[in-house]
Amino acid sequence: MQQQIKLGATILIGISLLVGVVVFIVMRPTSPSVEPPNSHSELPIQGEQLFNNLGCAACHQANSTGLGPSLHGLYNQQVYLDDGTTILADDAYLYESILDPAAKVVKNYTPIMPTYQSQLKEDEVLQLVTYIKSLAE
Ligand code: HEC
Repeated sequence: MQQQIKLGATILIGISLLVGVVVFIVMRPTSPSVEPPNSHSELPIQGEQLFNNLGCAACHQANSTGLGPSLHGLYNQQVYLDDGTTILADDAYLYESILDPAAKVVKNYTPIMPTYQSQLKEDEVLQLVTYIKSLAE
């Protein structure tokens, strides 16, 4: 009887170990691990593509050498406007600046930016806003 219990226990432990090893092999993360696409990682990339395709990048260069101000580090900063006021560059401001650039003109810049009102869908504007926000990090 004692012998049988010992044998049973040994077999059980053996099986457990085997299952453990198999589970370990199957569950092992394969490299490189692919991140599931989510809104956080995808939106800025789509926004960046739009930014390049629509020609925004021609005027908005990172080093401020373009005709428009650099958008790097813009988000959540105070912007000095042509009319002497300042405004916080929040989501709403970025949104309006893309659809109606002449509404609030940045100080020391000529308002030559075209409106994109007729070319962009709502979600595309949001993608652009998300991209510009990602430039602030
Ligand atoms: C022909 C050049 C030109 C193009 C193309 C252009 N912009 Fe501009 N943009 C400007 C200028 C000049 C200003 C500053 C004057 C003003 O506020 O209108 C500006 C201002 C802005 C601002 C506000 C910046 C700030 O510092 O407050 C945002 C945001 C912006 N543009 C986004 C875009 C996006 C997105 C696109 C593409 C869909 C784009 N621009 C295309 C010239 C351009």
